[in-house]
Amino acid sequence: MEQHVLQGRVALVTGGTTGLGFGAAKRLIEEGAFVYITGRRRDVLDAAAERLGPSARGIQADVSSKSDMLGVAETIKAGHGHLDIVFANAGGGHATPLAELTEEQIDSELGINVKGVILTVQSMLDVLGDGASIILNASITADMGLPGFAAYASSKAAVRSLARSWTTDLKDRRIRVNSVSPGVVPTEGYGHEQKLSDADIAAYVERVAKEIPAGRVGTAEDIGNAVVFLASDASSYINGIDLIVDGGMTRVYAGQN
Ligand SMILES: NC(=O)c1ccc[n+]([C@@H]2O[C@H](COP(=O)([O-])OP(=O)(O)OC[C@H]3O[C@@H](n4cnc5c(N)ncnc54)[C@H](OP(=O)(O)O)[C@@H]3O)[C@@H](O)[C@H]2O)c1
Repeated sequence: MEQHVLQGRVALVTGGTTGLGFGAAKRLIEEGAFVYITGRRRDVLDAAAERLGPSARGIQADVSSKSDMLGVAETIKAGHGHLDIVFANAGGGHATPLAELTEEQIDSELGINVKGVILTVQSMLDVLGDGASIILNASITADMGLPGFAAYASSKAAVRSLARSWTTDLKDRRIRVNSVSPGVVPTEGYGHEQKLSDADIAAYVERVAKEIPAGRVGTAEDIGNAVVFLASDASSYINGIDLIVDGGMTRVYAGQN
């Protein structure tokens, strides 16, 4: 019989209704886990939970609300009694020229991408079992100087730092904390978060793929595979790292082919 690497594990994926969160939830389930997904939009949440099937359950919650996240922990405690894996994925942002960056955008992007990740992990502390694995979703933008992305990119640099801080905070419970940094992965967020049209996205994908050594942009499955690895015992000696999953885009210059 085929052995699944996460058989019997219980996972939480914040922002698991679309894009990378949905892709990771799908891969975690394929490897045997039961997955709680969260999101703010009820209809999108219900549709995602239905698509993921009986090994998934949706919980409506905003990661930037402590009371919402404590409610998520209560639901998981009542449902399974413990949690083995957290993928703190909910987040987003868009490019805005520095002079036009508003307080509202700064508060929103740091509020979801940084405060939301802190509240997610802090709220799960009582339900997380010893030896659990926490994975935070950062971004390659933390390494780059992309025009207009100061708020977003700095929030993702903070996420990488949180993984290192929590590695020490949680070491006595043998809880591992790592981050993943996806490269370019076209998702629903490219439309509604970054406000790009389908034509803009297609032109960007065609242009950027030539600069990626792998010769293509990434998929939600590529990121999900990295999340499964960091969640599994195969990565048991890996702690406090940032795993870049970008086809070589930021570490190797492929140039124009
Ligand atoms: N796609 C990429 O190229 C890329 C690259 C690097 C990093 N990332 C990171 O990957 C993560 C997912 O991005 P994506 O591209 O998959 O975007 P996406 O398709 O827009 O998905 C975002 C998910 O997060 C949820 N969400 C947003 N704000 C939330 C909040 N306050 N509370 C709870 N859920 C919230 C959304 O649902 P609701 O709106 O219904 O809440 C949705 O489920 C983000 O952290 C992003 O920064 C993406």
